[in-house]
Amino acid sequence: MRRLLAANWKMHLYAEQALTLTQQLRAAWEAPELRTLPGIVFPPALYLRELAMQLAGSSIALGAQNGYPGEFGAFTGEISMAQLAAAGATWVLVGHSERRQYFGENAELLRKKVQDAQARSLSVLYCVGETLAEREAGRTLFRLQTQLQEVLSENIIDWNRLAIAYEPVWAIGTGINATPDQAQEAHAYLRMQLAQLGAPADQIPILYGGSLKPDNAYALFSQPDIDGGLVGGASLSADSFLAIAQAHLQTKPL
Ligand code: PGA
Repeated sequence: MRRLLAANWKMHLYAEQALTLTQQLRAAWEAPELRTLPGIVFPPALYLRELAMQLAGSSIALGAQNGYPGEFGAFTGEISMAQLAAAGATWVLVGHSERRQYFGENAELLRKKVQDAQARSLSVLYCVGETLAEREAGRTLFRLQTQLQEVLSENIIDWNRLAIAYEPVWAIGTGINATPDQAQEAHAYLRMQLAQLGAPADQIPILYGGSLKPDNAYALFSQPDIDGGLVGGASLSADSFLAIAQAHLQTKPL
């Protein structure tokens, strides 16, 4: 099933706020229609254990925003994929542009993260996207192809535990979303590239991210290859995240 809606809270919210927001989402997701839409919440790792208890039995899964390959080791400040899984995460984000940009994460590290996460039975939401300079230079599709090939090929243990997020860097947190046509072009291309890597591309969720809001969600989700969203800023309030979820239900009924 390709439908999927994810909330990336980034480095936001205190514990009580995270708990309240989780409770609101969980309550809303009890509605029969919303139950059919698999959700994922990516909170700061500090809250994973508590939120895992809050979300037990719901159709909202829990994910980590980052993880380090391995189980234990002398890596001060890091949290391993194995520890995240033990804390209740079933997903992990890999390759978010903020990790690439501010923390210098390169293809070699991302490859290890994807492989180790899957080996520890986490599903991976792998993020790709071009910068504004790359788009203006006409290199968007080439960039996307590179980001898929250098990290995913020969590295995937289980294609069923992979989703892709297309997040143009110039759209993240800027209030400028990709147009539905721009996003659809990128998503269709990503799906074709996944097929070339040997993936069951028709079954892999490809989410759009980058200033996704209640007022643009409907048009974006109306595109055939946009299966859902990875929502940053607009996921920090239940009202706006639920409005985006409603747009999803309207455009992609079961
Ligand atoms: P945004 O972030 O919705 O705030 O643009 C999306 C993301 O980075 O995942």
